[in-house]
Amino acid sequence: MPERSCPRYYDYGAIWGEIASSATRTWNPSSKSFGAAVQINSGLRSILALPWVYRLFGHILGIEANRQWFIDDVLCLRDGQKLVDVGCGPADILDRLPAVEYVGLDISDTYIQAARAKFKTRGGAKFLSGSVEDWARDPLTYEADLVLTNGVLHHVNDDDAKKILEFAYHALKENGRFVFYEPCYLIWQSGISAHFMSLDRGQNIRTEQQWKELASSIFPVVSTNIVTGVNRLGYVCMVGQCRKSTIASTSSS
Ligand SMILES: C[S@@+](CC[C@H](N)C(=O)[O-])C[C@H]1O[C@@H](n2cnc3c(N)ncnc32)[C@H](O)[C@@H]1O
Repeated sequence: MPERSCPRYYDYGAIWGEIASSATRTWNPSSKSFGAAVQINSGLRSILALPWVYRLFGHILGIEANRQWFIDDVLCLRDGQKLVDVGCGPADILDRLPAVEYVGLDISDTYIQAARAKFKTRGGAKFLSGSVEDWARDPLTYEADLVLTNGVLHHVNDDDAKKILEFAYHALKENGRFVFYEPCYLIWQSGISAHFMSLDRGQNIRTEQQWKELASSIFPVVSTNIVTGVNRLGYVCMVGQCRKSTIASTSSS
C-alpha cells in the first residue's frame, strides 16, 4: 500500500463556518448530569448490542464517508504498525485498514465473537473481551504505535474514562499516539443535533472543555479538533490526539 502523507493541520475557518451556519441554540452543560448514567441498554437501544443491528444502524446513519476520512486523514496508519482499538465493537474498521497488527478490545463478548468470526482469516488481528484491568496485563497490548477509542469514552463515566486513558498511556510506545473520537457538545449548537446526541446509548457526552480536561488529566500533550455533520443525525464530534511528550511528538514520523 502506498505511504500516505498525513495532514496535521485542519482548516479552522471552514470548520467554524460550518458550526456557525448550523447553530440555532446554546448548550447548557449544567442541564445534563455527566458521569451518572453510563450506557443505556434498554428499550429500542438494546438491539444495538446485536452486531448485525449495530452495523446496519451505522449504514443507515451514513457514517461511511466520515469513517474513511477518519482513517485516511487522522489515523494515518502504515503497514506493520500496531493499533490497539479499545471498545472496538464488531471491529468493522479493520476492513479499511492497511496491514497493521490489530488488537481489538471490548467489554462486550458478543461484539468480540462477531469480530473473531468476521476476521478469522485475516492475519495479524487479535480480539480480547474483558476489562481494562485484564488488558493492561496482556503483553499483546504493549508497545502500540496507536491506541484508539472511537465512540467509546462517552459510554463511561470520568473514573472509567481515566482508567482507559491510563491504559492507553502505558500501552503506547514512547513516540506513540492516542486518538479519541467522541461526540461533543458545543456551547452553541443546532437544537436537532443536540437532541439526537442526547438520545445516544452513551450518556457521558462531554463538552469541548470537558473532553480537553479529561484527556489532559493523563496526557501532557493534547490537541483537539471539532468535526461537524458526522452522520445523518447531525452529530458533532471531537478528535483528540494525545502524546506522552512534545519531544516524542516531534521526533516521530
Ligand atoms: C459506539 S460503540 C463503538 C464501537 C467501535 N469503536 C466503532 O467505531 O464502531 C461503543 C463500544 O464501546 C464498548 N465499551 C463500552 N464501555 C467500555 C469499556 N469500559 N471498555 C471497553 N469497551 C467499552 C461497547 O461495548 C461498544 O462496543
